[in-house]
Amino acid sequence: MRAAMMMREVSMTDVEAIVQGYYGDRPVLQRIEDALRAAGVDPETPSHRDLWPFDQLHSRGIVATREHAERARIRAGMYVLEIGCGLGGASRYLAAECGCRVAAIDLTPAFVEVARILTARCGLADRIEFRQANALALPFRDGTFDHVWSYAVTMNIADKEGLGREVARVLKPGGRFSCNEIAQGPGGAPVFPMPWATNGTSSFLVSPKAMRAALEAGGLSVIEQVDVTATRFGDTGRQPVVELDDFPLRVHNLQSCLADGRLIAQFILAEKSA
Ligand SMILES: C[S@@+](CC[C@H](N)C(=O)[O-])C[C@H]1O[C@@H](n2cnc3c(N)ncnc32)[C@H](O)[C@@H]1O
Repeated sequence: MRAAMMMREVSMTDVEAIVQGYYGDRPVLQRIEDALRAAGVDPETPSHRDLWPFDQLHSRGIVATREHAERARIRAGMYVLEIGCGLGGASRYLAAECGCRVAAIDLTPAFVEVARILTARCGLADRIEFRQANALALPFRDGTFDHVWSYAVTMNIADKEGLGREVARVLKPGGRFSCNEIAQGPGGAPVFPMPWATNGTSSFLVSPKAMRAALEAGGLSVIEQVDVTATRFGDTGRQPVVELDDFPLRVHNLQSCLADGRLIAQFILAEKSA
């Protein structure tokens, strides 16, 4: 039992290092500043909207973020936790466009630092708090949040039940979890590299049925689970300024695996079980 727990700890640390290395190994702030300058915006004083072409690290950019907020039924005044916030794009959207108070965590220290800087430059620092943390060990008290938001993150998390448990723990009674992710489809193994992982060592995809079962075992009741694969084709909706040089190949692999049924894109809305 003890040996098994140690193995699990070691392997979680390895995955943390791989994910942090993958996302943290690029001059993100400088690239965004250059892109803002090229767009005629002073990089010291952008608005959160000026950042939309660069700060939404998922397919279809701000359009998808807006759709997610609608599906998740986000309302003004909610206290929202974003897990895996990347550069903080969705957190700024939730604060500035939806009127939420936001806390946000990400595993990658470099992203958290840039998220803080960009948020301060947009004048939103008093409405969003960023911390470096793992979604499997959230640095918040039980029953803190009205909503927990996750977009394009869970593919890097092996322990889906542990994720459900942590999310349920920090939600208030009746609070909700919204998740947009890529799941394993019936058509076979994914072809790497993918946008979230170079190979299988940091990619943990499960079927929609298994994801639902894991979240429910963790203490959440799934109230909506929608296959959104059809929305994932076409324009990525953003300028990939912070992505690696092989990003077009990664997007190509994702799109062809979605098309041939190896992968499924899904939206999940779950409520903390009574
Ligand atoms: C594709 S990016 C998406 C960022 C953001 N959600 C967005 O849509 O713009 C995935 C993010 O998940 C973070 N991540 C991966 N595993 C995580 C974990 N276990 N805990 C917290 N963050 C994690 C990565 O560091 C990365 O910033």
